[in-house]
Amino acid sequence: MKIQKLTEENRAKVYALLRSAFPGSEYEAGLVQKFHENGKPVHEWVCIHTNKVIAYIAFSNAYDGNDVCGLHLAPMAVAPDFQKQGVGSELLRFALRQEMIKSQPLFVLGEPGYYKRFDFEPCSLPICPFDKNNAHFLSMRNNTTTHFIVGYEPEFKTAAKPPSPQGKKRR
Ligand SMILES: CC(C)(COP(=O)(O)OP(=O)(O)OC[C@H]1O[C@@H](n2cnc3c(N)ncnc32)[C@H](O)[C@@H]1OP(=O)(O)O)[C@@H](O)C(=O)NCCC(=O)NCCS
Repeated sequence: MKIQKLTEENRAKVYALLRSAFPGSEYEAGLVQKFHENGKPVHEWVCIHTNKVIAYIAFSNAYDGNDVCGLHLAPMAVAPDFQKQGVGSELLRFALRQEMIKSQPLFVLGEPGYYKRFDFEPCSLPICPFDKNNAHFLSMRNNTTTHFIVGYEPEFKTAAKPPSPQGKKRR
């Protein structure tokens, strides 16, 4: 298995992967496709195994008003046949070591038990607009003390439906 930046030729494979990892949901594939169509500054990596894209991770800008205040980790997915074999952990640990990721505040809306393994901590500030009471909102290197609602790229709202804490139903 090798980890590499997402290339244009592998984009369609990523959309298919997201549909299979989030069955019944078009949201994640639609979100990433809109990022690409709109040329958004997204950091993306994939795991390739026997020429197939078996995992994907993306980071997009987090905003305090018009200012970038960090990165949102979303979405992340592993192909169903390869889940629970360490692939997701390897991809996330790889991404967290990359230059453009390792010094920035990071935010993720997800299952706390999963993300705490990677040193994410529960986040009380800023406020996540997609989560009640920030119950599933975590961060890393975040020193926010002021009260504001963290911004997402507009594609998060214009894709099919608002995000829910990822993977919540399975844990
Ligand atoms: C969530 C996901 C990205 C994790 O990737 P993965 O390759 O399956 O995870 P790993 O094998 O690296 O798992 C690491 C640990 O987390 C646990 N874990 C992973 N996914 C889990 C799940 N859905 N429910 C419960 N535990 C899970 C594993 O049991 C493992 O624990 P262990 O080290 O004690 O054995 C992947 O399962 C997935 O794509 N799920 C569907 C889409 C999704 O929910 N994405 C959002 C990410 S929160």
